[in-house]
Amino acid sequence: MEYRILKKISEETISKKVEEIAQNISSDYKDKEPVLIGILNGCFIFMADLIRKISIPLELDFVRLASYGSNSASSGRIRLTKDVELLIRGKPVIIVEDIVDTGLTLSYLIKHIEKKAPESIKVCTLINKVERRYKEVVIDYQGFDLKEGFLVGYGLDYGENYRYLPYILSLKIED
Ligand code: IMP
Repeated sequence: MEYRILKKISEETISKKVEEIAQNISSDYKDKEPVLIGILNGCFIFMADLIRKISIPLELDFVRLASYGSNSASSGRIRLTKDVELLIRGKPVIIVEDIVDTGLTLSYLIKHIEKKAPESIKVCTLINKVERRYKEVVIDYQGFDLKEGFLVGYGLDYGENYRYLPYILSLKIED
């Protein structure tokens, strides 16, 4: 694969941003016990760091969604391959996503979770690619707003590679 590195987001910068999000969630939900629902696989490192920085009790679950298409672009056809297992009826839910890109994955999941009648649904994403939005979605907590490049590291992959990097690289893929 040919690529150019456009930008690096360091471990320290990520950690500060995750801390900021965690503080906001802790104060917004201080008398509640939210259920955080992560979208696998990309969110796993972000989720692990986030929940250890949140200072209130919470519950945790994961879903998995598959989308058909190439490595670096969402194709828009989505299906759920692992559902929420906790009972979320009447509970405040926070969906935790790695990247909101076109918004298709998230809007599909929100519709699915709404059917389970939670008290509320909010969305937390590490990265918001707001300029690429195709389906409008409300983001309540976000880390970084990025415009260009394909992101890898800190749980994010390119064809299942690079998830292990402790920092994030924004790549211009040239193949
Ligand atoms: P959406 O449905 O287009 O919003 O796509 C969201 C999903 O696409 C994310 O959860 C990621 O798994 C994947 N994705 C989108 N952009 C990137 C990227 O730059 N790097 C890695 N994965 C990405």
